Amino acid sequence: MERPIGMFDSGFGGLTVARAVIDLLPSEHLVYIGDTGRYPYGSKPSDLVRGYARELAWSLVDEHDVKLVVVACNTAAAAGLDDLRAELPVPMLDVVAPGAAALVEATTSGRIGVIGTVGTVASGAYLHAVQSAAAVAGLDVELCSAACPGFVEFVERGQVSGDEVTVLAERLLAPVRAVDVDALLLGCTHYPFLARVISDVMGPGVTLVSSADETAFAVHRLLEHLDLLRPGTDPGEHRFRSSGDIDRFRDLGARLLGPELNHTEAWSPS
Ligand code: DGL
Repeated sequence: MERPIGMFDSGFGGLTVARAVIDLLPSEHLVYIGDTGRYPYGSKPSDLVRGYARELAWSLVDEHDVKLVVVACNTAAAAGLDDLRAELPVPMLDVVAPGAAALVEATTSGRIGVIGTVGTVASGAYLHAVQSAAAVAGLDVELCSAACPGFVEFVERGQVSGDEVTVLAERLLAPVRAVDVDALLLGCTHYPFLARVISDVMGPGVTLVSSADETAFAVHRLLEHLDLLRPGTDPGEHRFRSSGDIDRFRDLGARLLGPELNHTEAWSPS
């Protein structure tokens, strides 16, 4: 129960999930690793990304004795982590199924969209997850998927608004605008940092759905079910590690996540 929750992403994106988990479960200890030294994952082959995910998950287990691993990265989850899930001695959750369920819940028209990295969209992971969520909800949905190469790089540079990112968003979001979706899932954990721009481009009739809150609810449900919630109301400790420049991770990370990110430690694959 005292053991931390472990979480990882290719960089800053998973901080959207970390924020939601810290807000929902303030007493839980958390260790977050941002693999900024090797980002982006979205343009890399899936077997390479699976290898990275394995190193990160095992490092959280071996070095931090985490009680749960949260894959706060759609691209890593979409690369297929069933083998890793089976070999880990602790449960593992990811953002794909919670995001798909939230998307299906958000639509009225049944025309929905998902945007993500090239790797995530090519994997078809959301097609399967949305079909399952729609079947559970008894709904007919039409899904339009679009890859948004370049969005992650803007976030990693800390550039989350302005003309350049807006022009790119107008081009990349054209396919989902053309089919008139009423709900759009931000299927990359970096994208909530661009929500203002994406929302301006999509227009007021489109609900943006982020998987961060839904994933935090899933973490809560699982820990409660396994009787692993940390008891009491003492605030949890939050540790942040990065495989890139740790001062930069702390500075930009604090801007993106908030004051809990006041210190960063180095992480490197063993
Ligand atoms: N934040 C990650 C995701 O959710 C991936 C970003 C990347 O490294 O390309 O897909």
